[in-house]
Amino acid sequence: MKIFSTGGAGFIGSHLTDRLLSDGHSVTVYDNFISGRSEFIAHHLNTSTFKLVNADLLDTATLNESIKGHDFVFHLSANPDIRKSTANTRVDIEQGILATYNVLEAMRQHDIKKIAFTSSSTVYGEATDIPTPEDYGQMLPISIYGASKLAAEALISAYSGSFGMQAWIFRFANIIGRRSTHGIIYDFIQKLKENRDELEILGDGKQRKSYLLVEECVDAMLHVITHTDERINTFNIGAEDQTQVNTIAKIVTEELKLDNVTFTYSGGKRGWIGDVPCFLLSIEKIKKLGWNPGNTSDESVRKATRTLIGEIWK
Ligand SMILES: NC(=O)c1ccc[n+]([C@@H]2O[C@H](COP(=O)([O-])OP(=O)(O)OC[C@H]3O[C@@H](n4cnc5c(N)ncnc54)[C@H](O)[C@@H]3O)[C@@H](O)[C@H]2O)c1
Repeated sequence: MKIFSTGGAGFIGSHLTDRLLSDGHSVTVYDNFISGRSEFIAHHLNTSTFKLVNADLLDTATLNESIKGHDFVFHLSANPDIRKSTANTRVDIEQGILATYNVLEAMRQHDIKKIAFTSSSTVYGEATDIPTPEDYGQMLPISIYGASKLAAEALISAYSGSFGMQAWIFRFANIIGRRSTHGIIYDFIQKLKENRDELEILGDGKQRKSYLLVEECVDAMLHVITHTDERINTFNIGAEDQTQVNTIAKIVTEELKLDNVTFTYSGGKRGWIGDVPCFLLSIEKIKKLGWNPGNTSDESVRKATRTLIGEIWK
């Protein structure tokens, strides 16, 4: 298949690119490198089935030209930082909603019918059903990032209903591992690089979330796509259990062999405005398709910590 991948040079996108190329597909990565990195895809630059377009999704002329002739779109591009929207309330409107509209419009104009979209647990807001299933409602996001993901899902649904497209919507838990450029484990290691005696933890450290390794996340998406054929296929992707923020701090300091780190807390139950302090996605729906996570959330955190220490602790 000829696949067009927005954000394909990013953390998750570059792992997806690796997997799609090794499965025999042609891949065009469309990325403006705002948080993607050239070294994540450099090993493909001489591959005949790989093409890179260094451009912005808000540049519709380049997008329209580049998307022509593809069969399937993976739309991963987004502002990945939930915290950013408290300082810049426009960022997720442009990078989440407008960019998704541009992708759908370009698909419509070039008669491309299939899209997979990377949404997030944040669409559920502070859900009262935990684990939260895909059909939970009413969905009331508490961050602009979450609102932009829910709006993008709605646009995808509307384009599917109006123009005969087929969509796969993936609501991710926290995805971690090799090539992370953001997120809690990355932040803790960076902070400890600067100060090995003290680690500031955002919130009260009691937040509980679910963590999944990036390779497993990519595998889960491809498993769902090959095993489903509804007009809209919506699936949670995550681990079956949760890890407390304090546990992550303990794992990171243990793996760095730092014995005397004092943990300090910024306080309050949230790490930042819009943070959902406790979530767990129900993964019963994907399990019924025969996919199961290979690790518990704690195991994934430890494995990702080891990998990231190798990458960024120098
Ligand atoms: N990492 C997680 O834990 C997580 C959890 C839930 C959902 N997601 C979603 O998964 C997707 C991938 O996330 P990630 O963690 O790999 O983030 P990332 O920042 O590494 O990837 C996003 C990619 O999109 C590119 N990009 C951003 N704006 C662009 C634009 N206007 N035009 C072209 N390219 C642009 C960036 O350069 C980057 O390569 C995102 O949609 C994110 O919201 C991630």
